[in-house]
Amino acid sequence: MTVKVNRQWCLAARPVGAVKESDFSLQEKAIPSIEKGEFLLRTRYLSVAPVMRNYMIDGAGIEEPLAIGDVMRGRGVGEIVESRNTEWPVGTIVQGKLGWQDYAVADGAPGSLMFAIRQTVAPIATGLGVLGMTGFTSYCALKDIGKPKKGETVVVSGALGGVGSTAVQLARLMGCRVIGIAGSNEKCRLLEEKLGCHATINYRDQDVGEALSQVTPDGVDIFFDNVGGSILDQVLLHINKYARIICCGRISEYLNDEPYRLRNWGEIGHMCAKMQGFFVYDYAPMFAEAEATMAEWIASGDLTYQEDRLEGLEMMPTALIRLYDGKNVGKQIVHVS
Ligand SMILES: NC(=O)c1ccc[n+]([C@@H]2O[C@H](COP(=O)([O-])OP(=O)(O)OC[C@H]3O[C@@H](n4cnc5c(N)ncnc54)[C@H](OP(=O)(O)O)[C@@H]3O)[C@@H](O)[C@H]2O)c1
Repeated sequence: MTVKVNRQWCLAARPVGAVKESDFSLQEKAIPSIEKGEFLLRTRYLSVAPVMRNYMIDGAGIEEPLAIGDVMRGRGVGEIVESRNTEWPVGTIVQGKLGWQDYAVADGAPGSLMFAIRQTVAPIATGLGVLGMTGFTSYCALKDIGKPKKGETVVVSGALGGVGSTAVQLARLMGCRVIGIAGSNEKCRLLEEKLGCHATINYRDQDVGEALSQVTPDGVDIFFDNVGGSILDQVLLHINKYARIICCGRISEYLNDEPYRLRNWGEIGHMCAKMQGFFVYDYAPMFAEAEATMAEWIASGDLTYQEDRLEGLEMMPTALIRLYDGKNVGKQIVHVS
């Protein structure tokens, strides 16, 4: 779709509890002009991620919180449609911080976390999912913190989300036995039939502790945790000696005023386990390896990706709300143009 204005979703109110449509306002601005060294990007796809709610709230710890009226922050895939920078010519497809808008200006400076998409085996939208920050999160965290060894048992929470669905498959490709935890029987079925989970747990229907006793009789070596809270607490009671716990995300706690108080953290000491935080942007030197390795696995059919796509920039707030309702099956993206 050709648009003659730059539509922008801006922060209208800081969310209290769940994110609502009224927390955003859709503004129309002129398409920006570019200076020497800059280029203009037309947004093709935008990503939504749970962390965006944190950006909307004062005191978000990961990046600076947005001010009321700011354009919503987020990554996208865009095409360079005008350029005054010879290193970034017109026609280049990039993934970077475009924001929730039709057009963005950038200069591609080192450190800006903008990358030309080089792989040619998968559609460009994967630059937001399996071959973007989402998949890089799964790859870098699993390899660097999880350090999986053949035959180990890996548990993944939020297992059919963007990060989780790739983590599940990578762990399987690295020779591990994989258990997925997700919020519906349908998600569990997909995890077992399509993504190769050896067993699954529906945390809404089952007692997670009891289910873990059944499906991880030899204990848990790696926990790739996307949700935190009581699920993390239960998994801690099942870890093996020298287990690795990857603290990737805590979506179950993001809506709480108070952080969840872990009761079973003593197991970390007892089991000489390692629990480590992770921030994907710290792993930029590994991104090229992650993209090339996973593109190869996609080409060979070993790695598949789940994408949950909505149509139109106007759907951005809905797309973010879906994550917190668990409605997304795989990486949630929005097709803009
Ligand atoms: N550390 C980093 O650098 C980094 C980078 C990217 C993402 N992350 C984190 O990784 C996690 C996954 O991100 P994503 O982009 O892949 O999102 P996502 O998993 O695609 O979407 C969120 C999923 O979380 C589950 N969920 C929602 N509320 C829940 C609750 N109360 N308890 C348990 N599960 C719940 C839902 O699935 P169910 O139906 O299964 O509940 C939902 O589909 C997030 O916590 C995110 O903040 C961290």
